[in-house]
Amino acid sequence: MTPVTGTPSAHVRSDIDPFSDEFLADPFPPLAELRDAGPVVYLERYGVFAVARHDEVAAVLRKPQVFSSAAGVGITNFATGKPWRKPSILLEVDPPVHTHNRRVVARALAPRSLAWLQEIFDRRAGELAADLVSRGSFDAVPDLAEIFPTRVFPEAFGIATDGRDQLLAYGAMVFNGHGPRNHLFDASMAGAEGVIGWITEQCSRSSLRPDGLGALIYAGADAGEVTEDEAALLVRSFLSAGLDTTVSAIGLGVLDFARHPDQWRALREDRSLARNAFEEVVRLESPVIGFFRTTSEPAELSGTLLPAGAKVLVFFAGANRDPRHWEDPGRFDIRRKTAGHMGFGIGVHNCVGQVIARMEGEALFRALAARVASWWLTGEPRPRLNNTLRSLDTLPVAVEPA
Ligand code: HEM
Repeated sequence: MTPVTGTPSAHVRSDIDPFSDEFLADPFPPLAELRDAGPVVYLERYGVFAVARHDEVAAVLRKPQVFSSAAGVGITNFATGKPWRKPSILLEVDPPVHTHNRRVVARALAPRSLAWLQEIFDRRAGELAADLVSRGSFDAVPDLAEIFPTRVFPEAFGIATDGRDQLLAYGAMVFNGHGPRNHLFDASMAGAEGVIGWITEQCSRSSLRPDGLGALIYAGADAGEVTEDEAALLVRSFLSAGLDTTVSAIGLGVLDFARHPDQWRALREDRSLARNAFEEVVRLESPVIGFFRTTSEPAELSGTLLPAGAKVLVFFAGANRDPRHWEDPGRFDIRRKTAGHMGFGIGVHNCVGQVIARMEGEALFRALAARVASWWLTGEPRPRLNNTLRSLDTLPVAVEPA
C-alpha cells in the first residue's frame, strides 16, 4: 500500500467554508462544487477533509472502527480540544460502548413502547391543523413547525410540557456546538446557564413521568446496565436531538409544499402518501447538513490517503442530492423511492429517533392534507442559520380551507 504521509498538498483542496453564513443559508450549490471537486476534498480553512458524494458518505458511515465518533462528531477533536459540554455517551462513542448504550435506548423505543403515540400525535395534529385553518394566515415556523414537536415530544417522553423555549434554545446550542466557535455558536450560548440547568433537571429520574418514554431509559439503570448518571446522559441525547431536527423538517416541508402545489394536490388525493412525503422532505432538505468522524488509523478512501487523527466532515446533505445516485435530485417528488437517503444517517449511529420523527411528520402532513386545500407564501421565508442544522426563521403563509 502506498505510504500515508498526511501531507494535505497531495489532496484535492478547496477554500469553501462550510460554517460561513453564505454556505449555511444555502449549502446546496457549494456542496455540488465539493462533489465535483473530488470524492474526498481537503478544506483548507479548517484543516479537515470532507466527503459530499453518496458513495463516500456511505463508505465512511459504515466503518465506525476506522471513522470514529469518539473524538466528537463536531469540528472539535476531543483528543486535542475541549468539548463545550460532557460528550454524549451515544452519539460520541464507538462500539462496543456504543452498542451497549444503544441497546438500552433501543429497548425504550421498541414498537410496543411507541404504539400509543400514534393516537396522541394524530389527535394533536388534528387540533393544530384545525386551529391554523381557522386563522387563515400565519407564520408556519413559530405557529406550526415549532409548536407541533414541542407539544407532542414532551408528552411522549414524559418531561414538562411548558419548556418550548428551553428545548429550542438547547437544540440550537447543541447543533451550533458541533461547529467552530463562530458568531452563531456565541449567539446560541447566550443564556446557556439557565437553559442547561433546566435541561439537566428534566433528565433526572424524578422529573420524568413514569408512563413516558424517558422513564423506560431508566429501566436500564434499574437492570444495572447503566449507572444513574449514564441514564440521565442518555435521556439528554433525546432532548438534544429530538426537537430542532423535526422542527426543521416540518418547516422546510411546508415550504416545499407551498412551492409545489402539484405535490400538495397529490397528497390530498392520496393521504397514504404522507409518510413517503415526509421521507422525501428529509432526503431533499437534509435537516442535519453533516457530522464529523475522526480517523482512528491511516485510511484509504476512494484513492485518497488520510492520516490517523484526521477530521472528516460527512455531508448527509451532499449525499442526498448527489446526481451520481439520484435522478433529478433537486426535484421534490413525494412518490420518489427514497430508500438509501442519508437524512437519518446510516450505520451504527443511524438516527435512533427516526421512527418517532416519521410518526410526527406523517401525522401532521395527513392532518393538514385533510383540512388545507392549498397554501401560498405571503412573504419571503428566511433561513435560521445554524452550524449543523438547516431550518427556517420565518415562513409567512396563507391557506385555503378544504
Ligand atoms: C427529521 C428529524 C430527524 C433527523 C433529520 C435526524 C437526523 C439524525 C442523523 C443524521 C443522525 C446520525 C448521526 C451520526 O451518524 O453521527 C441522528 C442520530 C440520532 N438521532 Fe436523529 N434525527 C431526527 C429526529 C430525531 C428524533 C425525533 C430523535 C429522538 C426521539 C432523535 C435522536 C437521535 C439520537 C439519540 C441519535 C444518536 C444515535 C446514535 O449515535 O446511536 N433524532 N439523527
